[in-house]
Amino acid sequence: MKALVTEQQIAERLPALAAEIATQWPRPERLVLVGPLKGCVIFMADLSRALWRVGVPHDMDFLRVSSYGAGTESTGVLRLESDLYHPVEGRDVLLVDDICDSGRTMDFVSRHVAAKGARAVRTAVLMDKPSRRALPFAVDHVGFTIPNAFVVGYGCDLAEGYRALPYVGIYEG
Ligand code: IMP
Ligand code: MG
Repeated sequence: MKALVTEQQIAERLPALAAEIATQWPRPERLVLVGPLKGCVIFMADLSRALWRVGVPHDMDFLRVSSYGAGTESTGVLRLESDLYHPVEGRDVLLVDDICDSGRTMDFVSRHVAAKGARAVRTAVLMDKPSRRALPFAVDHVGFTIPNAFVVGYGCDLAEGYRALPYVGIYEG
């Protein structure tokens, strides 16, 4: 499959992204990285270690949101399938996901976490498709801004396939 973002590009971008987060958020309060399963896991695993290397300790937690359907278009109706394990009240939260597309997932999850009393909520995604927004949502920390294409790999799946592909490719059927 043709690479849109190569393994080397990801490996080079991660330390810079972690440094950016550390600089713009110098003293987070009991930081926790929160991601919607399962697309977030590959990026979170790498970002977590990159943050550790620049001296930003943190916990990790996960939730599960469904948007119905297994195709390449989400329906726009989100539902919380499984909640965080630990309370986030008073804590700083970095939401982490593979990709921000319509913005609905990040918007939904950030409202959810804020409603639980998080002290501050920021967002980080490996890839951003700003041209696809269904609602206005700005991601704070973006690895790569990409065009409107359906991508797979590095956590992004097509009906569960391709998640473990170590680079990001454009799915062309
Ligand atoms: P949003 O809610 O439309 O922003 O989409 C977010 C979710 O849709 C992401 O967490 C991904 O799981 C999925 N998604 C969006 N675009 C793609 C893509 O190009 N490939 C694979 N999954 C995608
Ligand atoms: Mg996802």
